[in-house]
Amino acid sequence: MAESKIPMGPKRILSGVQPSGKLHIGNFFGAVRQHIELQEQGNSYYFIADYHALTTLQDAAKLRENVHDVALDYLALGLDPAKAVFFRQSDVPEVCELTWFLSIVAPMGLLQKAVSYKEKVEKGIDASVGLFSYPVLMAADILAYRSNLVPVGRDQVQHLEITRDLAEKFNRIFDKEVFPIPEYRLSREAKVPGIDGQKMSKSYGNTIEIFAEGKPLKKVVMSIVTDSTPVADPKDPDKCNVYALWDLFANDASREVMRGRYQAGGLGYGDVKKELLTSIESYFDAARTRRRELVARPDLVEDVLRAGAAKARAEAVKTLELVREAVGMRGRPLV
Ligand code: ADP
Ligand code: TRP
Repeated sequence: MAESKIPMGPKRILSGVQPSGKLHIGNFFGAVRQHIELQEQGNSYYFIADYHALTTLQDAAKLRENVHDVALDYLALGLDPAKAVFFRQSDVPEVCELTWFLSIVAPMGLLQKAVSYKEKVEKGIDASVGLFSYPVLMAADILAYRSNLVPVGRDQVQHLEITRDLAEKFNRIFDKEVFPIPEYRLSREAKVPGIDGQKMSKSYGNTIEIFAEGKPLKKVVMSIVTDSTPVADPKDPDKCNVYALWDLFANDASREVMRGRYQAGGLGYGDVKKELLTSIESYFDAARTRRRELVARPDLVEDVLRAGAAKARAEAVKTLELVREAVGMRGRPLV
């Protein structure tokens, strides 16, 4: 098989997040935190997946607001545009062109097996062609930048497997190593529970938002569902939602103490909720301050996204040139 013409640099890391609502602490511990940690390794690309969000959010004002909010959240939480390329998916329209090239090698049967499509349709979302081919667009996101490593939550693993299949198949059919085969990396916190004990998710209405504060934050934390074990009785921390959430902010020493208090009895769930509230407030305190500063400078967010898109687009254009040549078209379209 012929080698790609583009020399391999250091491993490229890429991930995306849909702007489908306010980010919550499940998103933070399951995704955002590791994105920010990985930016230290260089060559990281992170984007706001607005083409993807359109499959479920079809309201222009809301989409615009969500994109802006997610960008603010990432920047406030520590994403550094000097270290990572941070951009909006739709500022690189080449991914839509690549979606087509991947669609022609994407087996129907493989997409029909995609769990996230079935789940969304079961939830009442319209079964559109776009929703069905969501994983092909996601493969295009990853392959457009010839990414090597994709940090994701467990729910995205099947999409990564589809991406690998499509990349291998394209390379094989056109007898050219256009795409590296990407690997995925799971976060430590694969499943943060929501306040009702199910997986925390925007679509279940059971989230604790990262940037909630004051009374609304207190109200959500105090409403975390617990069992009815009396205060005096010993309790099992591993069966308690409040503990699972509290544990995200703990260290080894405080964890041992808290587990002891659960097992000894005499501990009320309300007390742990109060401690959780304090932990959330102090953990995100600096990010809250940064976010308020960023809100006061709306142009800055847009400037960051545009500068990121210029870098990302230059890479995608190079990939598309290889792809077009590989299939027998003119490398660059006529302008
Ligand atoms: P939601 O379910 O709230 O709509 P998304 O599907 O937009 O969240 O997920 C964005 C990222 O956050 C994904 O990488 C996903 O794996 C991660 N994520 C979402 N919810 C959780 C959770 N409860 N625990 C761990 N990671 C999560
Ligand atoms: N589908 C991902 C999610 O819902 C978001 C996403 C879109 C993504 N394109 C991607 C993640 C490419 C990683 C790589 O969370």
